[in-house]
Amino acid sequence: MSRIVYVNGEFVPEDEAKVSVFDRGFLFADGVYEVTSVLGGKLIDFPGHAARLRRSLAELEMDSPIEDDDLLAVHRELVARNGIEDGLVYLQITRGAADRDFAFPEGATPTIVLFTQAKPGLADSAASRAGIKVISIPDIRWGRRDIKTVQLLYPSMGKMAAKKAGADDAWMVEDGKVTEGTSNNAYIVKGRKIITRHLGTEILHGITRAAVRRLAREAQMEVEERSFTIDEAKEADEAFVTSASSFVMPVVEIDGAELGGGTPGPVAQRLREIYLEESRKAAI
Ligand code: PDD
Repeated sequence: MSRIVYVNGEFVPEDEAKVSVFDRGFLFADGVYEVTSVLGGKLIDFPGHAARLRRSLAELEMDSPIEDDDLLAVHRELVARNGIEDGLVYLQITRGAADRDFAFPEGATPTIVLFTQAKPGLADSAASRAGIKVISIPDIRWGRRDIKTVQLLYPSMGKMAAKKAGADDAWMVEDGKVTEGTSNNAYIVKGRKIITRHLGTEILHGITRAAVRRLAREAQMEVEERSFTIDEAKEADEAFVTSASSFVMPVVEIDGAELGGGTPGPVAQRLREIYLEESRKAAI
């Protein structure tokens, strides 16, 4: 497989793409990213991802190497050049290359990289039909999880811990309360009430979360934004997670305790349908 990727203003074959060994993304994880899904060759929730990217950059006092219009054009060009029907576009911007120094360098040129990942059948995965199993792990990430940085080692370790335990993912717990999944936002359902953690610096402000919250309310479902414990989650009627790559994904087991008889619940399934339908309509 040889993809066309985008690096610092140019579309190049992936094996010709180069980033400096002095890049601060490589040396300090001094970079931010976004993942935008593609369904039917079109981008899902692009304006939300672009807006969050601006915010992440601003929070880190990092310059943006690209305007929003151009960013959209690059996303579309990559989707077209790589023939992506269903898949993901990954975007990363780092502070750029500079001699190694903890202080932010002055005048460094940010590095921008985008690539696609083809995921045929992304919206109809076996996992979405069966639901996923999660385990809980302590949330020991840094305190600015609202900034979408590339510091993903702990989430990566969390996924591995889940895998070793025979599960699919991990929910992270801080001060006794669930923060979020390793790469998604976490929800429980009680009756028809959807409960998800309030926004703050402890979690990423999911773009899918914002859309699902709006669509749920439009569908007359109550959404309560507050934290919850693993014990409360185990007793819930349903649970699910949301992200750009999984949309709305039912959770059927938490730390070995089955929810809803171990099959996806009606609220999660309905929200997934609504989200996919509305997102496809609004895709650009
Ligand atoms: N992850 N929380 C965390 C920690 C995440 O990494 C993500 C997304 C989300 C959901 O955000 P959104 O709905 O905007 O995708 C929540 C992406 C998909 C990833 O790292 O691959």
